[in-house]
Amino acid sequence: MTETAAPGLQALFDPAHRADPYPTYRRWREDTPVAGPMPGLFVVTRHADCAAVLRDSRFGHAEPDEPNLLRPAPPTDAETALVDENGNPVRSFLGLNPPDHTRLRKLVSKAFTRPMVARLAPRIEQLTTDLLDGMAKRTGQVDLIESLAYPLPVAVISELLGIPNADRDQFVAWSHSLARGLDPDFALPPGTRENLVRTRGEFAEYIRGLAAIRRADPGEDLLSALVQVHDSGDVLTENELLATCILLLIAGHETTVNLIGNGTLALLRAPGQLAALRDEPELVDHAVEEFLRYDSPVQLTMRAALEDAEIGGVEIARGSAALLVIGSANRDPDAVADPDALDVRREPTRHLAFGQGIHFCLGAPLARLEARIAFQALLARFPALRLAAEPAWKDNLILRGLATLPVHLT
Ligand code: HEM
Repeated sequence: MTETAAPGLQALFDPAHRADPYPTYRRWREDTPVAGPMPGLFVVTRHADCAAVLRDSRFGHAEPDEPNLLRPAPPTDAETALVDENGNPVRSFLGLNPPDHTRLRKLVSKAFTRPMVARLAPRIEQLTTDLLDGMAKRTGQVDLIESLAYPLPVAVISELLGIPNADRDQFVAWSHSLARGLDPDFALPPGTRENLVRTRGEFAEYIRGLAAIRRADPGEDLLSALVQVHDSGDVLTENELLATCILLLIAGHETTVNLIGNGTLALLRAPGQLAALRDEPELVDHAVEEFLRYDSPVQLTMRAALEDAEIGGVEIARGSAALLVIGSANRDPDAVADPDALDVRREPTRHLAFGQGIHFCLGAPLARLEARIAFQALLARFPALRLAAEPAWKDNLILRGLATLPVHLT
């Protein structure tokens, strides 16, 4: 196979594509599974190829001082809130290679193991009940994103990190801006990058202030624990602490919301599946995996070739970027039978919704638990739940999710 013509990358940015990108992905998978729409960029759409790149140590994240197609902008003044001693922006461990990635991931991984997360279940159930109580008091149309899908993960991650209740509203604007900033620079409207840089600075300042408070008066939360790690040795710099907190907050704010939103929409559009899950609530774990696969909250991720390599027979020169279309890989018929059908009874698949390899999602046990509790409670509480109007999609490319999901509860 050779590198082929542009697969129409602009389709990714087309609002018409947002509601249903899957026919386009299918065309790309069939016609140009490893396409080169512009010099130095490859778009990878097959499951086997995406999984292989995620596991291949020849692919990773480019060093900030190397020319980088995905992040060409140099750090600006505002970004100096978060730069290292060489003036490079400090990246969270999501964007780092070993050994820094390994060191930083290890520091927080204990807090996200399955047993640690299971201890949060009663609190997540309580938060869910409170939100559903709030929804039940409303009459007419209710926006499921605003009333459940967004506030639940926000409350959980904020409590875990130790963000005071009173400060949470401020996070809505910050985290939307930072989440949009995950998209590659070439996909962002003018001004977004400047906005992002300002937000990162404000966010860093906020966490810095909160860290000082926790230093003086530690709590049971993760920020207090990280402050202690920082203070007790040279294993975590202050900038790394800030970048880790920002990563966890964004990951906790902007992904699980899309699992709950996209999953609910998929169910409401497939009445037979909705009925099956309602009749057999014990299917919920299978259903959550299916929602992750069927309409993946993280649609894309990126890697840089750290050395010359190949993907699916196509030569990839060192320094090139690979855009891995997770949303397409999860609909690849070579990996999953009848991939365009939602099937809440489906046996486990090898979906890539949480990535694979060394960057496999650290929050997967937490996201699964929150989704399981939310879906079980939502369906039990509102047996007549149905779509009230067509939902609206957000503009984000990497994080695929709904801006609104209007439903009727009764
Ligand atoms: C990494 C998806 C929820 C924390 C990732 C990656 C994916 C992903 C695809 C890998 C990205 C890559 O390899 O480039 C999701 C989805 C979620 C979710 C679909 C919800 C449904 C969460 C939550 C947290 C979290 C709730 C934590 C609070 C992280 C972290 C990483 C990560 C820290 C970086 C891991 C590393 O670089 O080693 N996530 N995530 N995620 N996720 Fe999640």
